[in-house]
Amino acid sequence: MNSIVRAVSIETEVTASDFRSAMRQLTGGVSVITAGKGRDISGMTVTSVSSLSVEPASLIVSLNRESSSWPLVKRYGFFGVSILTSDQIDIAERFTGKGGLKGADRFAGAQWTTRASGVPLLADALAAIDCEVEDVIERHSHAIVIGRVLDVAVSARTAALAYWQGRYVAIDQDEDAAKLAEVSVPVRKTGRKF
Ligand SMILES: Cc1cc2nc3c(=O)[nH]c(=O)nc-3n(C[C@H](O)[C@H](O)[C@H](O)COP(=O)(O)O)c2cc1C
Repeated sequence: MNSIVRAVSIETEVTASDFRSAMRQLTGGVSVITAGKGRDISGMTVTSVSSLSVEPASLIVSLNRESSSWPLVKRYGFFGVSILTSDQIDIAERFTGKGGLKGADRFAGAQWTTRASGVPLLADALAAIDCEVEDVIERHSHAIVIGRVLDVAVSARTAALAYWQGRYVAIDQDEDAAKLAEVSVPVRKTGRKF
């Protein structure tokens, strides 16, 4: 693996509160990361999933090393990403540990399936992605996990769940397409923007 680690050279005075305020402005798609097998399972709600490369299909996710899911991801070497639909806020909340729910109890009340890796994947997720851990960078409080995609299942649903400014936001392709068209920048036939 090639990696470049540099010591930062400029002292900053960015407070945790300032940084949080800035990051609250970043809209994130909401997913549930799952790991483990049988009753030895856990999962967590995340917004940090993003695509790394298409060929090979791989993604990254940033997991707090204090979370109950991280040791399972590390030990088993596999994890699942279930991208949530707009009507799955209750699942998102269960997987933040709301109400003291832990481990396998977080999975109650929803349908789960497995694919090649054996980790639970939400049966009616917007998309479910089965991953094998390819690499991990443990940095600060978190572990950046690189997952090699083993399999995907994509639903025909069109309404996603996002998180912005500390609240869940539904994004519905049918309802929001018209609004998006209003704010889109028209493009001339030459391809140049107006
Ligand atoms: C919308 C949202 C997004 C989150 N994204 C992340 C994330 O990307 N990485 C992370 O480590 N924790 C994230 N969290 C926090 C975890 O969901 C939470 O700390 C975790 O479920 C607690 O797990 P534990 O009780 O198993 O330790 C997020 C929480 C919310 C509400």
